[in-house]
Amino acid sequence: MEAMGILVFLVILVMGLPVKGQLKAGFYSSSCPKVEDIIRSTVASHFNKDPAVAAGLLRLHFHDCFVQSDGPSWSVPTGRRDGRVSLASQVLPTLPSPFDSVAVQLQKFSAKGLDDHDLVTLVGAHTIGQTSCQFVKYRLYNFTSTGNSDPTISPSFLSHLQTTCPKDGDGSKRIALDQDSQTKFDVNFFKNVRDGNAVLESDQRLWGDEETRQIVKNYAGTFRGLLGFRFDYEFSKAMVKMSGIEVKTGYQGEIRKVCSKVNY
Ligand code: HEM
Repeated sequence: MEAMGILVFLVILVMGLPVKGQLKAGFYSSSCPKVEDIIRSTVASHFNKDPAVAAGLLRLHFHDCFVQSDGPSWSVPTGRRDGRVSLASQVLPTLPSPFDSVAVQLQKFSAKGLDDHDLVTLVGAHTIGQTSCQFVKYRLYNFTSTGNSDPTISPSFLSHLQTTCPKDGDGSKRIALDQDSQTKFDVNFFKNVRDGNAVLESDQRLWGDEETRQIVKNYAGTFRGLLGFRFDYEFSKAMVKMSGIEVKTGYQGEIRKVCSKVNY
């Protein structure tokens, strides 16, 4: 599925389905009956100007859902008083920080009611989007401060990454998280993780952990249906689940009068 298709589908899905009894289909049917159409066409027009907006919005949504979790690798910037992050701060480069182990990631997900299957599925969002060389170079040239590379990277992918991100090259150079098909929402990302071709260390670790490896294997495998999970179907389900984390209702939180400022 193309990135735009999945994004609009997800925005509408997340708005429309009941999640843990907190979000309700048709909630805005009397106050704003055209809301889905407005969102669909607004996202589509921005996407047509800049397709990277799909990945930015997807990532923003993840950080919005996990806003109260601490931990260096996720809680990137928190520029807003209510703890929610802005799209602008999401798309700006952030400083490299140590990644949580898979066990810690699983704990954080579990604390929000999401299981290991949800984690692996949702990280599959890295089938689109990019990072920059500055977040990858340490894996290529100085993995354990002794000038070596991350041994979990396959030899051919290592030389590919070293060519893309030379040691003294431009750290801000953008590179695809899913090197094979960065604009397609497909299972290539999982095949890359299986083959030692993941760009992010945190993604590659999903193969190193026994529990998450099985799930990666399942998505990466050729069997579908009864024998395997269908990524597009499972991803939508997991997104809806994630969207239901600690939803603010009633008088909790605030609806801003000016988008960029909290209401004082
Ligand atoms: C759970 C562990 C996760 C970790 C450690 C992680 C880490 C990262 C990192 C380091 C980047 C690169 C950021 C940059 O270079 O500025 C990234 C990008 C991205 N992440 Fe994740 N992520 C995780 C989960 C998720 C989830 C659950 C989603 C969505 C459901 C997601 C969606 C994205 C997207 C779409 C991008 C690309 C952003 C762009 O191109 O603008 N990530 N992630």
